[in-house]
Amino acid sequence: GVYLYQNRLLPQEEVHISPEDRGYYFGDGIYEVFRVYNGRLYEADAHMRRLQKSAADVRIELPSEPEQLLHQLVELVAANRLTEGTVYLQITRGEASRSHPFPKAAAPVLMAFTNVLPRPLAAVQSGISIVSMDDIRWLRCDLKTLNLLPNVLAKQHALDRGAGDVVMHRGGTVTECSASNIMIVMGGRIVTHPANNLILHGITRAVVLRLANELEIAAEERPFTLSELMEADEVFITGTTAEITPVIAVDGATIGGGTSGPVTRKLQQAFERSIE
Ligand code: PDD
Repeated sequence: GVYLYQNRLLPQEEVHISPEDRGYYFGDGIYEVFRVYNGRLYEADAHMRRLQKSAADVRIELPSEPEQLLHQLVELVAANRLTEGTVYLQITRGEASRSHPFPKAAAPVLMAFTNVLPRPLAAVQSGISIVSMDDIRWLRCDLKTLNLLPNVLAKQHALDRGAGDVVMHRGGTVTECSASNIMIVMGGRIVTHPANNLILHGITRAVVLRLANELEIAAEERPFTLSELMEADEVFITGTTAEITPVIAVDGATIGGGTSGPVTRKLQQAFERSIE
């Protein structure tokens, strides 16, 4: 496929990432995953704003202006003739011999590629089961950095137990899943963890809260506990790749009736309309 490498569209064979890239040594970089529906980048501006925030907070300077970068991503999608899939974009602090301080001379290294990925229709319909796990991550989970080892371990923990994902918690307070946010429905109201430093501020999470508002479904951003999760009427996860996926069991206990509930379905229908 065609890659975006620094400022240019190139075949993958012509992308040469150095073994001295700090992304490789230190996970010293940031990333975004965009969804492409019908050949168009979904919620592109929101992803670009989050990228700018991640970059600023880890002190990496974006190699090009956000408008120009977005334009290049549109060209990348077109060059790969992508209709349904994702765009992965990462920017590292650059290449330098391995030493912790920021390198003086290094320039950021930007790389992006596309992936064909059909919509997760089976999971969206039937739901997934999840297992709970301690959230062992650092205290800046709002930054989309390359340091995903805890997320990788968490996902494998779930798969090893026959579950689709984990739900992470800090001392019983539910935060999020390995690559998605989580919401519960109690008495017709949506509850989800506040967008602070303990979770990624998901673009899909924001879309769902906006849709809930339009549908006049009450939503509360407040911490909730594992026991509230277990007793919820409905549970679903939100993410660029997960969309709105119902959760039908937590730690082996069935949620609601073991199928997706009415609030989840309403939001799923509104989401379908938003991607057209
Ligand atoms: N993950 N929480 C975490 C830890 C995530 O990694 C993600 C996204 C989300 C959902 O955010 P959004 O709705 O903006 O996709 C929540 C991406 C898809 C990934 O790492 O592959």
